[in-house]
Amino acid sequence: MTSLPPASSHPAPPPGPQPRPGTRRWDERLGSIAYGGDYNPEQWPREVWEEDVALMREAGVTLVSVGIFSWALLEPREGEYDLGWMDELLDLLHGAGIAVDLGTPTASPPAWFFHAHPEARVVTRDGTVLGFGSRGMASPSSPAYRAAALRITTELARRYGDHPAVVLWHVHNEYGAPVSEDYSPTSAAAFRAWLQDRYGTLDALNAAWGTAFWGQTYGAWEHVGVPALAPSVVNPAQRLDFARFTDHQLRACFVAERDAIRRYSDRPVTTNFMAAECPATDLWAWGREVDVVSNDHYLTAADERAHVGLALAADLTRSVAGGTPWILMEHSTSAVNWQPRNVAKRPGEMARNAFQHVARGADGVLFFQWRASRSGAEKFHSAMLPHAGTSSRVWREVVALGADLARVGELRGSRVRAQAALLWDWESFWAQDLEWRPSVDLDHRERVRAFYERLWRDGITVDMAHPEQDLSGYPIVVAPASYLLSRAAAENLTRYVEGGGTLVVSYFSGVVDEHDAVHPGGYLAPLRDLLGVGVEEFLPLREGQRVRVAWEGPRSAEGEHELTADVWSDELVLAGAEVVATYLDGPAAGRAAVTRHRRGAGTGWYVSTRFDVEALATVLAGAYADAGLAPAGLPQDVEVVRRRGAEADHLVVVNHGDQPVAVPADGVDLLTGEPTGSSVKVPAGGVAVVRVAPTS
Ligand code: GLA
Repeated sequence: MTSLPPASSHPAPPPGPQPRPGTRRWDERLGSIAYGGDYNPEQWPREVWEEDVALMREAGVTLVSVGIFSWALLEPREGEYDLGWMDELLDLLHGAGIAVDLGTPTASPPAWFFHAHPEARVVTRDGTVLGFGSRGMASPSSPAYRAAALRITTELARRYGDHPAVVLWHVHNEYGAPVSEDYSPTSAAAFRAWLQDRYGTLDALNAAWGTAFWGQTYGAWEHVGVPALAPSVVNPAQRLDFARFTDHQLRACFVAERDAIRRYSDRPVTTNFMAAECPATDLWAWGREVDVVSNDHYLTAADERAHVGLALAADLTRSVAGGTPWILMEHSTSAVNWQPRNVAKRPGEMARNAFQHVARGADGVLFFQWRASRSGAEKFHSAMLPHAGTSSRVWREVVALGADLARVGELRGSRVRAQAALLWDWESFWAQDLEWRPSVDLDHRERVRAFYERLWRDGITVDMAHPEQDLSGYPIVVAPASYLLSRAAAENLTRYVEGGGTLVVSYFSGVVDEHDAVHPGGYLAPLRDLLGVGVEEFLPLREGQRVRVAWEGPRSAEGEHELTADVWSDELVLAGAEVVATYLDGPAAGRAAVTRHRRGAGTGWYVSTRFDVEALATVLAGAYADAGLAPAGLPQDVEVVRRRGAEADHLVVVNHGDQPVAVPADGVDLLTGEPTGSSVKVPAGGVAVVRVAPTS
C-alpha cells in the first residue's frame, strides 16, 4: 500500500503542494485565467456536443472537467472498458482548443461493483447500511473498492496520460462528501490496524484514550472498535482518533490514485477540496499531496453576508496552497439545489464572486456545471448554460465574465501577501465538535467567522495558519478557537510573541492536548506564561444572557466605553497581564474580561467573552496598534486585495454595496482599459482590476 506520513505526525510546515520534479504546469497552455466548468456530455445525445463546444468558444471557456461521474459508462462490466466515447470527446475538445481536466470517476462506483462487493458499502454511526443509487457510497477502507478504483484510474492514465487535451487530473470528487466516516466491519478492522501503528501497544492506547474512565480499559486489540452509537457519550479521545483515521483513509485513497496516474502522466494531479465546508479532511495534510490546490465553493443562501464567507474560504484555500495560485474548481452561476431555500444570484453577483476568488489567489474560475442537467438529482441547479438557454441573463453574464477574465490574464501567477494570520486547525475543530462541552453555544465556526469578518471589514488580508507553522512573518495572529492546542503549538506561539508578534487569543482556547485531555495545570495552562493570565473556572452564560463590559484600554475615536457580550465568561487569574476590560455584571462581575501582556518583544491578548463583529472593532484596535497595523478605511462593503507580481501589482476591488465608490489606485483598470487617475471608480455591485506599480 502507498505509504503516508505516520498517523501521529502533524503535517510539517510550511503547507502547500510539492509536485514531483518534471510535473508540467496545468496552465502552461492556457493564455489567461482558466474558465469553464464540469462538463457531463454523457447526459446528452451526440449532436448536442457540437453545440456545446461552439457555445463554449462563445463564452471563452478554456478548461472543462470531464468524466467525474462516468465510471459506469467507462467500465460497464468489471474489467470491460468502453473508452471510445471519451476518445471522441477529448479529441473534439482538443480540436476546439479547450483543455481538459480529466476526472477519475471513483466517487461513484457502478452498480456491478456493489453487487459484487456489498461489504464495501458505508455504514453510518447508527448502523444503517447506505445503498446504491446516489454517489459517494463506497468505504474508503474497502480493499475491493481500493482495487477497483486503482484499476479504472490506471486504465485512464495509461490511455490518456499523454493526450494533448489533458492538462490536469481531477481525482475523485470532494473526498469526505457526502459521507466521510464509515462504521462497517471493514472500517473497524482498518481502524484497529491504524491504532496499532499509531500507539504500538494497548497500554499506550489505554493511556491516550483515558480508558480508566467509565471502565473502558482494553485487554485485547480485537475488542477495540469504531465509536458507533452507544448508550451515552462515547470516549472523546476514541472519537477524535476516528476522525483522524477517517481523514487518513480518504487521503490514502487519493495518494494511491495519484501515484497510479504519475506512472503514466506528467500532468499535475488535483482533487477538489471544500476548504471551509468539509470538516472531515485535514487540508493542511492534503495540500501537500496534490500538485495544485483546487477548491469548490458555494454561497450559503441563508447568510446575507455570504460574500464574507466566500472570502474566508478563498483565503483558507490559498493558505492550504501555501500561497501558490489555486483553481476555483466549482462555484455556481446562480442558485444551487441542495439548500433549504436556494436563492438565485442577482445581476452582477456571479462576477463579483468570481473576482473575489481571483483577488484571493485563484488562477482558474470554473463552475458546476456547463449545461444544466434535465434529469437526476441536480436538475434545479444553475449552470453556465441554463435550461432557459442562451437568451437568458445567466448566459449573457457567463459570456461577459469569460471576456473579463480574458482581460486580466496578466494576474496569473501573482501572489497575495497577508498582514494577519488566523489560526485554523481541523483537529481542534473535530475535538470541539464532540458532545458534552461546557456550553452548546460554543461554536468555533462562529468565532472564526466573527474575527475574520472584523479583519475583512478593516481591509486586512488574512492567511489561515496551522498553530505549529512558522508565524514570524505576520504582524498579528488571531486564535479565535484553539480549543485543542499541543505543547508544540503553545511553544510556537510563545516564540512568535517573544520575537515581536501580537497574538490575540479568544476564550475556550488552550484547553486540551491532542488526546482531548485537559492540560496539566488547567485551562489555558500552556499559554499562561505567554498571556500572563490563567483560567480558574469557566463561567458560561445562560441562553440569551448578556453581560456588560467596561473598556479601559485604548479605543478608536468612535469606540465605546461600554461593550456588551454574551455566551461565555471566564474566572480569570492574573499572572502579570494588565486588565484592558472588566465585567460590570454577570458571573464574573468585577473581574478581568480582556487582558494584555508584554512578553519578550511582543504582546499577548486574551479575550474571555463573545463580542460581536462591531464590538470586536474596539477589542482589536489595541492589538492592531501593538502590531503596527491600522484599518484600511475602505468604504463599507468594499474589498480590496493586492496580488503582487514581478512586473506589476494588481488591486482587485469588489464593491458589494449599493453605492458607487472611489478607491485610491493609480494605474490602469484592466476591465475598462482606462487609466484610473488617483482613484478607481467602481459602480455599485461592480468590480475593478487595477494594474499598479509593484510594491517591494
Ligand atoms: C458539489 C459536487 C458537484 C455538484 C455540486 C452542486 O460541489 O462536487 O458534483 O454536486 O456540489 O452544488
